[in-house]
Amino acid sequence: MKRVIEPELMAEREQVEAYGNADFEEPHSNFINLLEEYCPQIADTQTVLDLGSGAGDILLRFAQAYPHASIDAVDGSSAMLEFAESLLDGYPGVRNRITLIYSLLWDFRSTKNYNLIMSNSLLHHLHDPSHFWDKIEELSGPGTRIFIMDLLRPASVEGARELVRMYVSQEPEILRRDFYNSLLAAFTIDEVREQIAETGLGNLETKQISDRHFIVFGTCR
Ligand SMILES: C[S@@+](CC[C@H](N)C(=O)[O-])C[C@H]1O[C@@H](n2cnc3c(N)ncnc32)[C@H](O)[C@@H]1O
Repeated sequence: MKRVIEPELMAEREQVEAYGNADFEEPHSNFINLLEEYCPQIADTQTVLDLGSGAGDILLRFAQAYPHASIDAVDGSSAMLEFAESLLDGYPGVRNRITLIYSLLWDFRSTKNYNLIMSNSLLHHLHDPSHFWDKIEELSGPGTRIFIMDLLRPASVEGARELVRMYVSQEPEILRRDFYNSLLAAFTIDEVREQIAETGLGNLETKQISDRHFIVFGTCR
């Protein structure tokens, strides 16, 4: 099945509410567990960048799991950042370690030396995936750890419908729509490997970890 792009930003209020209130316990706790498993060296990590940080659930889980980390969280949707802000305000112990940054991916600049660059479910939103890899390359230095998780495109529309039935049938219609659109917009493992091969990022590994997710992990250069 060919890729069908979806809108990049998640800017509709209703969409943001549905996403922010959805039950992502399984994939998001998996993100943290896999990060620990595949990037075990980051225990004392100080400076972290989260690209496409969205409604803040992963940010919160990460900040709780890594008490030494300060995190820059970038998203181009003000509605998403507002949702994240109100979530994180309920956790004063982590709030002061997270900086929410309103920026499109390609406009974000930093001179910080990030120990870890992470991202969950941003790549499939991008019409041109090279923006994602170029930005990671620009912001990483020798030794920067990379950890990315994203959706995999199923082989067919029927396959995408089946995943919607399996995983979000209890969620509001707008979330079911977004998940379906995201599955069609996602990349295959081979496409992701080709994208990485065109960068100078070096030894990043790619692995399918469920029926609908892959991870990319490793150390830059
Ligand atoms: C599916 S959400 C993932 C949010 C979060 N990482 C999570 O796992 O819950 C994708 C996020 O990427 C943001 N996004 C998409 N395209 C972007 C771009 N070009 N620049 C900045 N943010 C973007 C969207 O606004 C949205 O908040």
